[in-house]
Amino acid sequence: MSANLTKRDFAKGAGAAAFGMTTGAPLAGRAQTSAESQPKSVQGVAATFPEGFSWGVATSAFQIEGAVKEDGRGASIWDTYAHTPGKIRNGDNADVANDHYHRYRDDVRLMQDLGVKNYRFSIAWPRIFPNGIGQPNPKGLDFYRRLVDALLEAGIEPFPTLYHWDLPQALQDKGGWQSRDTAKAFADYAGYMARQLSDRVKRFFTINEFFSFVDIGHRGVEMMVDGKKVRIEHAPGVRLSNAKLNQVRHHAVLAHGLSVQAIRANAKAGTKCGPADNLSTAVPAIETPENIKAAEIATREMNAGYLTVILEGKYTDAYLAAAGKGAPKFTEDDLKIISSPVDFIGINIYRPSVYVVASERAPGFRPIPFNKSHPRMLSLWHLLGPEVMYWAPRQIQSLWKTKEIYITENGCAASDELSTEGIVDDSDRIMFLRNHLAHLHRATAEGVPVKGYFHWSLMDNFEWSDGFANRFGLVYVDFKTQKRTPKLGAAYFREAIAKNAVV
Ligand code: FCB
Repeated sequence: MSANLTKRDFAKGAGAAAFGMTTGAPLAGRAQTSAESQPKSVQGVAATFPEGFSWGVATSAFQIEGAVKEDGRGASIWDTYAHTPGKIRNGDNADVANDHYHRYRDDVRLMQDLGVKNYRFSIAWPRIFPNGIGQPNPKGLDFYRRLVDALLEAGIEPFPTLYHWDLPQALQDKGGWQSRDTAKAFADYAGYMARQLSDRVKRFFTINEFFSFVDIGHRGVEMMVDGKKVRIEHAPGVRLSNAKLNQVRHHAVLAHGLSVQAIRANAKAGTKCGPADNLSTAVPAIETPENIKAAEIATREMNAGYLTVILEGKYTDAYLAAAGKGAPKFTEDDLKIISSPVDFIGINIYRPSVYVVASERAPGFRPIPFNKSHPRMLSLWHLLGPEVMYWAPRQIQSLWKTKEIYITENGCAASDELSTEGIVDDSDRIMFLRNHLAHLHRATAEGVPVKGYFHWSLMDNFEWSDGFANRFGLVYVDFKTQKRTPKLGAAYFREAIAKNAVV
């Protein structure tokens, strides 16, 4: 770029074209140019990740598969919810979604082109047990066998998640997560999958994002966005009392613990497992020892019903005190099951939950509200705070001495549009990625044991209540034709993978 460009040139909005730059060049050409520059951190040292760091992409069954009535698949709560008028933006549903059920081989090829060596996908429980329990459906299982085989042939390690929110509707009809039997049914399904797939799958994630399907699904959350109140809801879309909600939480972590035991009992020796949770993370507003400590206290308490009880085997005193009469009903044995040892912790990291500073008053921290002008990405909930990518894994290690951490999701939606030249220039996604990777790099450089990073998502897909409006993919999908087009962000990610570094 010309050295004579001034800020004013950009401010005038002269645009790239005025400087003889095209608004987009083919992917290959760009990769070549960037290959000339070495990744540098601020100190001028290459920001390289540890050797063997695993790079991957993530998706989930309901968001991409489609084929909802094929080969004996049962209905899930998300089918019901998506077909309830008014629930999904633009009246979208996921009956076809990305048609991945039929196009999975093409999608594996897309991953190969990116250079990823790991793929996190989820298994649709209602494909395997159409009624949640009872007779397994061989055709459903066969799909995941074929997918896993295609991945292994392509040199990509499969990381299946057993529950990414698509509860069989038949179980919902019997009380869903409000019933303890659902935890038991989940463990049976998990054990079955471990027995069927552990000849070719070495690592399983149990449950994706407790808060998202428990709290958002069974109460809904309200948040302020750009000064306005916004309500976010997930299937099954009920509004429970505190006591009932706390019991659903308990059943969810119990399901996790029972599934860990079922995987251990049924899988080949050496199979590993752990949760993939969206840790609510407090970030110190100013980095001082007092604030760092305060943020850890806040993170531990904010996750009391989920990762904290999973990793400590008890509910914190503050959690039980705050719940009062509405506290979950549980036994000591439940706590032992819930805290069954795991091999790794997966965390989905999108944003800080809160910024904090230390306080002399109990509980030891003061939450700093997000300023109205705090920047966000396209999704209304998605406030920007890339430093969370450093603090989340650091706090996990510091609080619970975890030896193996995966970033199981991170990414952003952007207002991507296919240009007339057939390209998508997602500058904001690249900005997002570079900044998050830089903070993740700080964590690995300081010895925090983060073993890998999965980008959400491989391709645009059905983004729950936002339907197809919010595109999270590295690959653009035309949902009318199912044509896939890698965005510029894909070229960025490929470059980062190739260099194993922030680029
Ligand atoms: C996470 C979900 C995932 C996707 C991203 C954007 O909460 O696990 O399915 O929707 O958000």
